[in-house]
Amino acid sequence: DDGRKPMLGDDTIARVSTPTQELPNQNWNIYLVFICLVFVMSSFQFGYATGVVNSPRKYIMCGTFNINNVTKKIEEHPERVPPSPEYNSTFIKDCVPMKDSEWYAFVAMFTLGGLFGGLLGGAISDLLGRRNTLFFNNLFFIASYVLMSLFSDFEVLTTGRFLVGLGAGVTTSVVNMYLSEVSPVKLRGAIGVLPQLGIVIGILVSQLLAIPLARGGRPWQWRLLLGWIIVLPILQMILLPFCPESPKFLLVNKRSSERALAAFQKLRRSKNVQQEFEDVKRQELESREQPSVFVRIKALFRRELLKPLLVAIILQMVQQLSGVNIVFSYSKDVFKSVGLSDYEADLSTVMVGLTNVICTIVVVPLMDRMGRRTLLLIGEVGCFLFFSTLSLCQILGDRVNTVATGVISVICVVGFVISFAISLGPIPWLIISEIFPSDVRPFAVSIASTINWLCNFAVLMIFPLLQKAINEFVFLPFACIILASIIFTLLFVMETKGKSVEEIVGISSAVTVDPVEKKPLLDVSSPE
Ligand code: GLC
Repeated sequence: DDGRKPMLGDDTIARVSTPTQELPNQNWNIYLVFICLVFVMSSFQFGYATGVVNSPRKYIMCGTFNINNVTKKIEEHPERVPPSPEYNSTFIKDCVPMKDSEWYAFVAMFTLGGLFGGLLGGAISDLLGRRNTLFFNNLFFIASYVLMSLFSDFEVLTTGRFLVGLGAGVTTSVVNMYLSEVSPVKLRGAIGVLPQLGIVIGILVSQLLAIPLARGGRPWQWRLLLGWIIVLPILQMILLPFCPESPKFLLVNKRSSERALAAFQKLRRSKNVQQEFEDVKRQELESREQPSVFVRIKALFRRELLKPLLVAIILQMVQQLSGVNIVFSYSKDVFKSVGLSDYEADLSTVMVGLTNVICTIVVVPLMDRMGRRTLLLIGEVGCFLFFSTLSLCQILGDRVNTVATGVISVICVVGFVISFAISLGPIPWLIISEIFPSDVRPFAVSIASTINWLCNFAVLMIFPLLQKAINEFVFLPFACIILASIIFTLLFVMETKGKSVEEIVGISSAVTVDPVEKKPLLDVSSPE
């Protein structure tokens, strides 16, 4: 014994006793449904922003438009030929002068906003509360929709796109955290999938609305497509005051037992919440006694957590580097590049979104039946095969341009999305909550979320450059990354289905024990 105080990371960790008794009031109630709907409105906007730039590109941008460069513009947008040869202000207002490279920057700015939002969200929600953070987050969304739908300058639109990214980034950390904090234990899995479901439904709605709104013939209609959604943050601001703050936040950060108890009673629609309340209170005791942030961050890098950390980071990277958001942000261009008409490309895009929604719903029960690792492998192999075939179609399509290559390309993209939705979509987020002990989980999640947004940004920025550089071979690098991820999964990814953290990582879960006495440093059996 070197006489020093035991710290987290000293390898001797034991689990706090967990309640074995069934808690009452753990089922869905109408109020819980209401709360979930209100919170998932933010996730919906995240998905909407991801998908909304896909179809209306040619309606939003005026190419390299300027008064002298007008001929090119007329060819590209015959529907916008103004009545007189003089270009009037109405005409200019209907589209945004942008170069191709600026369009890509506009699209990708969303992920840069997301990166900052994700980093900020956790910290702000510890100060203001989850509900209040989300309340004020709506100001980013509202400002963004105003800027993107009413203005006509590249800089203003791009600022709007950054702001909607900020909103989405805050959403990724706060909505998941709040929902997991208010869920009855028994519903945590189902409620945990709702944000991803909100995202994929948001993508689908953006694709569906793009058809009538962007194609309606009126050049200004894209503004409606980018702007109508302002009703959601406004509605959410009206409804959020009817949702309680997270009881865990009230206990841990506000140190208010009464308010936390009241929140619980409201959430469970019952006065009989004492047992669940005591459980959360016990966790509060743990977190109050937890070592400093620095020690906890250091604990994340201890030797037995290196493999889980590697798995968490690589899976987040692969989720984005698989190229999924190229599909959701640029699939229309991809479909057109293999010979589909504008309308066919729009319909195919909607089909892709619909497939994503259906598969996200279908995979929920499969997750516990088939296991994460198996689903991950099946999905990754699917992603690889479909993207390789898509590549082949693009290479051939450039030479033969047949109907067959077009049809096969659509099948490949749909197949890729099915494969993604059962594996790389939900599993990286799910697994991260399973492979870390609770003391280091928040740090692991924020590292992973930052890496996710960074890779999302990188892909959206690099894709157009790559397309210019290697043309029809553009999907091959993504297929190679997916192939590498199959090997990684085979070698490193552990099955987590039905296992505790101890079994997965070979350690115990929550609280540091005294290495000499071999008993928990916190005596949680007799709080206060
Ligand atoms: C996941 C990804 C997101 C992507 C979506 C598509 O949520 O994090 O970037 O757009 O899946 O389904």
